[in-house]
Amino acid sequence: MDYIDKKTNHGIRKMKESDLTTVHKIEQDCFPEPWPMQAFKESLKYNESLILYDITTNEILAFQIGIGVLDEYSICNIAVNPVHQKKGLGKYFLTNIIEMHFKKYEKYFLEVRKSNKQAIALYHKLGFKVIYTRNRYYSNPIEDALVMMFSLSERRQ
Ligand SMILES: CC(C)(COP(=O)(O)OP(=O)(O)OC[C@H]1O[C@@H](n2cnc3c(N)ncnc32)[C@H](O)[C@@H]1OP(=O)(O)O)[C@@H](O)C(=O)NCCC(=O)NCCS
Repeated sequence: MDYIDKKTNHGIRKMKESDLTTVHKIEQDCFPEPWPMQAFKESLKYNESLILYDITTNEILAFQIGIGVLDEYSICNIAVNPVHQKKGLGKYFLTNIIEMHFKKYEKYFLEVRKSNKQAIALYHKLGFKVIYTRNRYYSNPIEDALVMMFSLSERRQ
């Protein structure tokens, strides 16, 4: 599963227990209602938890937690360290996650706060479409979630 890109100096690998302090710090810096540390520990056992890192310094730049069931892959959590946002890393990471999984999964799902313009713009750019809204899904602040889907078969058409 490890992916090394010498051109960009980035790597993608599985998340390890020793990454969790940094990953949780990124989570706390990014979200008003961060997942507790225990949720990250659990995700190491059951989910596809990945890290985007700098191959020279080993710095963790971003993380993603997903779950695959049959031909569907749900992105449960994704964040880029705020220091490194808006430099193309989110787009790079997500594009490569889909590339790495494309033989296994056909459809990709995620949920996003309606006000998260930055993330929504990125998902649209990659071909995700809003399929429905979950009313008042998020708390602190209360907000609707947009459920978005990307289908490889639509991309092939
Ligand atoms: C959402 C997130 C993952 C995007 O990562 P990023 O590295 O900042 O995004 P990128 O630099 O790759 O930007 C990709 C595209 O998003 C859009 N985008 C980025 N910043 C934007 C902004 N401030 N406003 C509008 N669109 C923006 C652009 O369309 C950009 O494409 P372009 O570079 O071709 O113009 C990152 O901002 C993040 O971690 N946010 C906090 C956590 C979060 O909201 N996670 C998503 C939960 S669903």
